[in-house]
Amino acid sequence: MTSPYLAPVSDWYAENARDLPWRHPGASAWSVLVSEVMLQQTPVIRVLPAHAAWLARWPSPASLAEATPADAVRQWDRLGYPRRAVRLHASAQLIVSRHGGQVPACAGQLRELPGIGSYTAAAVASFAYGQRNAVLDTNVRRVLARLVTGEGQPRAAQSVTELRLAESLLPADGRAAARWSVGVMELGALVCTAARPRCTACPLAHLCAWRERGCPPAPAGRAGPAYEGSDRHCRGRLLAVLRAAGGPVRPSQLTGAWDDSGQRARSLAALIADGLVTRCADGSLALPGDGPS
Ligand code: ADE
Repeated sequence: MTSPYLAPVSDWYAENARDLPWRHPGASAWSVLVSEVMLQQTPVIRVLPAHAAWLARWPSPASLAEATPADAVRQWDRLGYPRRAVRLHASAQLIVSRHGGQVPACAGQLRELPGIGSYTAAAVASFAYGQRNAVLDTNVRRVLARLVTGEGQPRAAQSVTELRLAESLLPADGRAAARWSVGVMELGALVCTAARPRCTACPLAHLCAWRERGCPPAPAGRAGPAYEGSDRHCRGRLLAVLRAAGGPVRPSQLTGAWDDSGQRARSLAALIADGLVTRCADGSLALPGDGPS
């Protein structure tokens, strides 16, 4: 049976969706994959220029596979969580060696690539190839929690029940399922937001279980970790020095980047452990692929 939510979301999406390059009908699977990896932890507005520059430089997995991981980290620039750049580079190499340079269409194969979890695998299989997969990002989870379960916010951890619910709402056809998923995602991003839902603009307000219950507030959650002064902040400063140097640096060149020597050493060790920085045989430090060969 067709869900009563489908037509209102489809009409709303046709009128209100943002024009994003990875949603264009001709967007390649590689463009979709790069966008989803960038969007994992970075807002759309910051991803737009980074995505365009990445695709202009590396229009295919094969072109990125020929670059060094250091090139990828430098190009990633200030998008944050730069491990994603190293993993995307490793994924491009695997796409070439295992899949003949074509981004795989099957969510199971996508999940085997570094940095591709269940959400990203489902999103790429669905948006790039029209495979029928439930695509559950934070926006979709919030919309479905409110609409169907009547809860203001989804639980912290995704449950099997939630996945089954999302699957039960998918249209039978894969392309239609992809349009439904991106429509719900956009509704969550633009209307059914976490802090200030605009129910008067919502095409599903008359069907919403949360509104029916008088929009009870979700229990107060914990704030996320502070960035200022954190190890993540320190790692970002150290990487900025290595990016700017364009080649190996002596360890002493990093001392000016962060005052606390203990935190600096800990953060450098984490960057090395994550494969974002290499310690060369002569003791110098470099982005991977940037060291003396
Ligand atoms: N469109 C397709 N995937 C998206 C995402 N992850 N965030 C925002 N818009 C998208």
